[in-house]
Amino acid sequence: MKTILIQLDHQCYNVTIGKDVLKQLLTVLDKLKSVLIITDNKVAELYINYLKKYLNEYKLYFFNMDHAEENKNLTYYEMCVKYALENYLDRDLQVIAFGGGAVGDFAGFFASTYKRGVKFINLPTTLLAHDSAVGGKVAVNVAGVKNVIGTFYQPVAVIYHTEFLKSLAFNEIKSGFGEVFKHDLLHDGSILNALLVDKTNLTEIIHDDSLIEEIIYRCIEIKKKYIIHDIEDKLGIRQALNLGHTLAHAIEILYNTTHGEAVAFGICFDLFLSKNVEYEFYYKLFKKFGYFDTIINIDILDCVETMKNDKKNKSGLITFVGLKEFGRPFEIYLTEDEINIKLTEFLNIIKSW
Ligand SMILES: NC(=O)c1ccc[n+]([C@@H]2O[C@H](COP(=O)([O-])OP(=O)(O)OC[C@H]3O[C@@H](n4cnc5c(N)ncnc54)[C@H](O)[C@@H]3O)[C@@H](O)[C@H]2O)c1
Repeated sequence: MKTILIQLDHQCYNVTIGKDVLKQLLTVLDKLKSVLIITDNKVAELYINYLKKYLNEYKLYFFNMDHAEENKNLTYYEMCVKYALENYLDRDLQVIAFGGGAVGDFAGFFASTYKRGVKFINLPTTLLAHDSAVGGKVAVNVAGVKNVIGTFYQPVAVIYHTEFLKSLAFNEIKSGFGEVFKHDLLHDGSILNALLVDKTNLTEIIHDDSLIEEIIYRCIEIKKKYIIHDIEDKLGIRQALNLGHTLAHAIEILYNTTHGEAVAFGICFDLFLSKNVEYEFYYKLFKKFGYFDTIINIDILDCVETMKNDKKNKSGLITFVGLKEFGRPFEIYLTEDEINIKLTEFLNIIKSW
């Protein structure tokens, strides 16, 4: 078991990671107060009875988002508020997010706004959620725009019971590792270059208890460095966490790709834009892990058109996060024409491999 203390200006919380850490939940919950568990269909089907066994002495309420990403919206938010009101849940309520990043974002947003804020605990069940469960960003999608209505709201604890990860589908494992690779490159590359150097199978890594605990621990330590001095994303420090994300967001919107797989592709493009020769090494490594079979045929004009609305853009230029050396991100600003040229060049090169 590993613990990371996230110390912010006015509050702090622990992230506990390990194969068997669910019992930590009992140390942060108050038995005299109601608990609302927000989850989705798949997680409920797999694990709700397991979770209930730990909480048999608590007054429990449940809100199921069905398919979390589809329903991370204001309609389900209102349904959740109505459910809480019908059950007379008051400001003493304790909300548990039990699921991946979509459940975490929704439950955190609900907890931050219900009666002006109630206690929030995050129990992530996906690998990708190592990213979303830490940092305090919570949100819902509105009018087809992702995460457009949101707040910053910190949990009182993040409890990462890694046993849950073992039922993830391969696509979700790949998605989670996309953000792992990003965090690794923003630090020293040691996860890819040392921990995973002889590995080819990401599913096996998920089943290796001590390895996955170490990977999640390292990634959250790295994310922590970027968030604790820029809690509300106003100073530009957190921008680095967007490595790979400019092209990734376009790919995700246009094609049926998971977030993390699109990020892995976007990372290779950002390394290419940075004239970092390692882009070839990383592209081939990600291919070895089973990435990119469907991404390689993206339409350049559609991608550029979508990137024109990226929220990082400044003065009409599209912003990318470059990386010349491990841990030294910088911003790159390009015009539409420049991206057209660079993306064409990049796609021609990788197609020739
Ligand atoms: N707040 C942030 O800082 C932040 C950062 C990154 C991503 N996000 C958000 O996170 C979401 C993506 O997260 P995600 O990939 O975890 O998505 P998700 O929550 O949609 O989960 C992906 C799929 O995995 C299933 N699942 C969850 N746990 C499982 C388990 N243990 N076994 C089997 N299946 C399981 C879910 O039911 C779902 O079908 C997006 O909504 C994104 O906007 C937020």
